[in-house]
Amino acid sequence: MNIAVILAGGTGSRMGMVDRPKQFIDIYGKPVVIHTIEAFEINENIDAVCVICTKEWQEDLSIWIKEYDIRKVRWIGDAGKTRQESSLNALNAIKDDVRDDDIIIIHDSARPLISQRIINENIEKVKVYGACDTVIPAQDTIIRSVDGEHLESIPARRELYLGQTPQSFRYSIVRKAYDDYFSLPENERPVMTDDCGLVLASGAKIGMAMGDKLNMKMTTMEDLLLIKSIVRTSR
Ligand code: CTP
Ligand code: MG
Repeated sequence: MNIAVILAGGTGSRMGMVDRPKQFIDIYGKPVVIHTIEAFEINENIDAVCVICTKEWQEDLSIWIKEYDIRKVRWIGDAGKTRQESSLNALNAIKDDVRDDDIIIIHDSARPLISQRIINENIEKVKVYGACDTVIPAQDTIIRSVDGEHLESIPARRELYLGQTPQSFRYSIVRKAYDDYFSLPENERPVMTDDCGLVLASGAKIGMAMGDKLNMKMTTMEDLLLIKSIVRTSR
């Protein structure tokens, strides 16, 4: 079974909306999270979907799932304090229904423009490597600075990629990584911003699927404007 996990448990603090987290903003008649879920709903390789969101928004989410005739959502899990905890909650929500070799595709709800190709490529790469990250080659030179005042180094651009989502794994691999990480005392857990960080720390190999620029994450108001204009012109 191939299961998509949609993380919609954040507060969207950098977006600065007062009435709702960014994933619930309406874009041309549909909340962002529904645009995102629909990409997986229509993908024939996806069998079921788990959505993570705060208790406060679960009723609205359930209403939208009915309203937009979404059939594949099988689990709605509670958000965690951090993205990692939200991913852990998703793994726990599905645990009684999955097998070790099932493929789990974890995606940010804030990336509504994900393409079918990226979803399919993630699944194919997991079949080869057991784990897969979605990346795009760095087009600008990336500068490293430790203090934010001076350049530290300029790493070779050909070795640098920007990470997107989905990040996808065989269930047994991502489960082990999360069990290892959360078995550490809270103050000893290294800071990680994504699921691949944890999986890499557990010693697993991770393949790469090509993302694309349109699979951008809505982080600030500028991103929302860009995403809206892309949705408008592609309708
Ligand atoms: N996310 C989540 N649970 C959290 C934090 C984040 O499910 N505790 C989800 C968000 O809803 C988002 C994705 O992870 O779809 C990527 O996170 P990010 O873009 O950082 O979203 P937020 O944390 O909501 O935004 P910010 O960091 O600006 O507060
Ligand atoms: Mg965040």
